Amino acid sequence: MKTSAPDLAARPIGIFDSGIGGLTVARAVAQRLPHERLVYFGDTAHLPYGEKSTAAIQAYSIKICDVLLRQHCKLILIACNSASAAAYELVREYVGSKAVVVGMIDPVVAHVGQHYAGRPVGLIGTKQTVGSNIYRKKIDQLDLGVDLHALATPLLVPMIEEGFFAGRVSEEIIRAYLDHATLQGIDALLLACTHFPLIKPQMEAYYQGRVAVLDPSDVVATTVAEALAARQLLASPAEAPPAHHFYVSDFTRSFEESTRLFFGQEVQLEHYPLWE
Ligand code: DGL
Repeated sequence: MKTSAPDLAARPIGIFDSGIGGLTVARAVAQRLPHERLVYFGDTAHLPYGEKSTAAIQAYSIKICDVLLRQHCKLILIACNSASAAAYELVREYVGSKAVVVGMIDPVVAHVGQHYAGRPVGLIGTKQTVGSNIYRKKIDQLDLGVDLHALATPLLVPMIEEGFFAGRVSEEIIRAYLDHATLQGIDALLLACTHFPLIKPQMEAYYQGRVAVLDPSDVVATTVAEALAARQLLASPAEAPPAHHFYVSDFTRSFEESTRLFFGQEVQLEHYPLWE
């Protein structure tokens, strides 16, 4: 049977990350596109991705895409910089024409090029993201004179996943990283890990307005909206708000608590092991 365009448009948007970080992007997508149903997958069994090999992250990403494709997702958003760095091309190839694929890196690089040409920009991310050098390569390709200062900040993801994002412990760790020599003299700091918007207020408090702290969630949500609109895949308004689904590969109480706090609504987490 031939599937018509309106049926395709009613399908959900699939979003994945290693944990709660991708919720920062999911929230921006839900705000920008309130009629879209979201299927979120947090791969908590394999967190943190930033410490894993490229091959391991690729294997997890493909497994998660299988889950999201089984849910008939029309678009898969890799709401994780580490997975975007390690697996974006592979995921695109794997998914093929079955769904549109959006990653974190290209929309963010375009945004930085537009707003920070000729200026020094800091970047913090996981070891995988920073070690891959992908932001530097893509920003240099723009040839707009953006001077990138990148620093891996591996303690931040476990700290956030454990719920430490608004107190003395996180303040000390954030200060230690932002004091680093690599990040001096920058005009803006790019949060190249989707967990980091959760500690954006503390970074802004550290900088006291001297440096702009860039949360790319809205930029990526706009890219998702444009990608769907270009293919006439935007969902039509319905009477009831869409019922989002949240899956985790390993159930943790802190994930549930953070998800509820962060997504701002009661969320039903379902346990979905990637490997039986
Ligand atoms: N939120 C992720 C990112 O954007 C992954 C963090 C991790 O699991 O290490 O890189």
